[in-house]
Amino acid sequence: MTKVIAVLNHKGGVGKTTTTVNLAAALQQKKKRVLAIDMDGQANLTESCGLSIEEERTVYGAMKGEYPLPLVGLSGGLTIVPSCLDLSAAESELINEPGRELILKGLIAKLPESRKFDYVLIDCPPSLGLLTLNALTAADYLIIPVQAQFLAMRGMTKIMNVIATVRERLNPGLAIGGIVITQFDRRKTLNKSVAELVKDSFCDKVFKTVIRDNVALAEAPIKGKNIFEYNKGCKGAEDYMSLAQEVLKLK
Ligand SMILES: Nc1ncnc2c1ncn2[C@@H]1O[C@H](COP(=O)(O)OP(=O)(O)OP(=O)(O)O)[C@@H](O)[C@H]1O
Ligand SMILES: [Mg+2]
Repeated sequence: MTKVIAVLNHKGGVGKTTTTVNLAAALQQKKKRVLAIDMDGQANLTESCGLSIEEERTVYGAMKGEYPLPLVGLSGGLTIVPSCLDLSAAESELINEPGRELILKGLIAKLPESRKFDYVLIDCPPSLGLLTLNALTAADYLIIPVQAQFLAMRGMTKIMNVIATVRERLNPGLAIGGIVITQFDRRKTLNKSVAELVKDSFCDKVFKTVIRDNVALAEAPIKGKNIFEYNKGCKGAEDYMSLAQEVLKLK
């Protein structure tokens, strides 16, 4: 059975794309078949994986019903559905489409038998608009990256309210896989107190793995590589491998 995981937080720059790419790569290292879908009009995941933002077929055309999800195989073994800068327009273009929140779910369900994946990871944009709703409707689990910074928790109530509404109206089976603390620097007292606050507030919903601040995680996408291709011995690789272990155990 394919497990679909949406990586979501409407706050910008918290590590959604970094988590999607490197968790996908870590799961693939564990011999899983993994697809990563770029649902963000910034197309950061697409570029992080060394693809162009001008790929001929993208999730945008698929969302508009022009063709099935376009699957691009990377040399390292991951499969990607690229995005493009036009994707942001889909939010308004699909506004009158019946069942507009269900489009991505339908596209994933229609992947041919020969292209079934163990995990489909969806990188969401920093908003709670239609593209994110499509990801939430398609997902079995959510992973919510939270940056160990001031105001990290701001917006969590809003996310929890949206999840409750999606469960009620669109996707009753949606589960919170977990909150993951990112960009953590143990030398900073503020980082430690934010991490403790997140753990106190969401207890068993917080992954044990904390993603540490690691410059290699910021450098790898510039080379179009995931962390295992860029520097498999670094802290970032270690942390995402540890997160993958926890994700493999999600029931
Ligand atoms: N653990 C980390 N250590 C160091 N740098 C990191 C780490 N995680 C992410 N970054 C860097 O922080 C920036 C924001 O990360 P990322 O793009 O993954 O966030 P995002 O939530 O996807 O952003 P957006 O909301 O714009 O889509 C990037 O430059 C990324 O390389
Ligand atoms: Mg992003």
